[in-house]
Amino acid sequence: MLSAPECLWLCLAALILSASAEGEPGSRIKVVVLEGSDAVLPCSLSTKENIEQKLFNWKKVDPNEQEVFMYDGGLHYYNGLPGQDEHFRGRVSHFPLELQSGNASIIIKNTVVPDSGNYTCDLPLQQKQTFSIELVVEPVMRDRFGDIPGAAPKPFVGILNITEYRVQLRCEVRGASPKPRVEWRDSHGNILPAEQPQVSHRDGRYDITLLTTVTRTNTNIFHCVATQEEMGHVTEEEIHVPDQLFESCDGVGVIVSVFASGFSVAVFASLLLFSACIKCC
Ligand SMILES: *[C@@H]1O[C@H](CO)[C@@H](O)[C@H](O)[C@H]1NC(C)=O
Ligand SMILES: *[C@@H]1O[C@H](CO)[C@@H](O)[C@H](O)[C@H]1NC(C)=O
Repeated sequence: MLSAPECLWLCLAALILSASAEGEPGSRIKVVVLEGSDAVLPCSLSTKENIEQKLFNWKKVDPNEQEVFMYDGGLHYYNGLPGQDEHFRGRVSHFPLELQSGNASIIIKNTVVPDSGNYTCDLPLQQKQTFSIELVVEPVMRDRFGDIPGAAPKPFVGILNITEYRVQLRCEVRGASPKPRVEWRDSHGNILPAEQPQVSHRDGRYDITLLTTVTRTNTNIFHCVATQEEMGHVTEEEIHVPDQLFESCDGVGVIVSVFASGFSVAVFASLLLFSACIKCC
């Protein structure tokens, strides 16, 4: 028999335990994404207990039952554990670095409408905890080519010009409708100052070119991001500028006017590097 104070403590402990999980049982988290984008399904202990050596299991429970992702002390569906439903094969991953802080969230890549439904994440610790997540994948209309009409096509990025310590980058978005906002960002997501975008318009579609001039950063990675606010649609392309391009050329600007669409950025960059060398050295 437990005395009254002991019972109170147990009750309190149970209360704390049940409240210690993000999206505690009972409160369903809803995640809404557009078809074709990636969905992160959250499941995480607020105690931040390390779960690297633990087991967690993601299932879809409604409207159909499917095994989505299981992790057991380092093993999972992609390195030895069998049993994942065919429907999710190759599309689900966990966040290995997040396990240390009790985060068993998963990401479902390239979502399709039938992914919609209710999911559970079981974390069998001392007491089994179940989290419920509802995923809604909203269908997008497709044209007769199976493409998503209007969605901004992926930007095309390239190096346009190299001057002393500076590299001019060009980003081109072609055939977008409605008109997207195009921005250059650094690897931290900060918007970079850019020139006035050049916009042309034909058959209700927009071609947008945006130039920016960058200097060396710690990653030398720059992103061109096209956003269509109305549709909640974002596409981006990144470019890595080789460090050597930021070196001084003793005032000799390498004039590059070639900007071939479809040209591999890597090949293009090495070509530039080569021409920069000829000019500099
Ligand atoms: C768990 O990890 C995912 C992916 O990195 C992240 O989006 C999410 O915010 C994390 N959750 C918590 C509670 O830290
Ligand atoms: C490259 O930069 C140099 C120096 O600013 C400039 O004179 C030249 O016109 C630029 N070339 C192109 C293609 O923009």
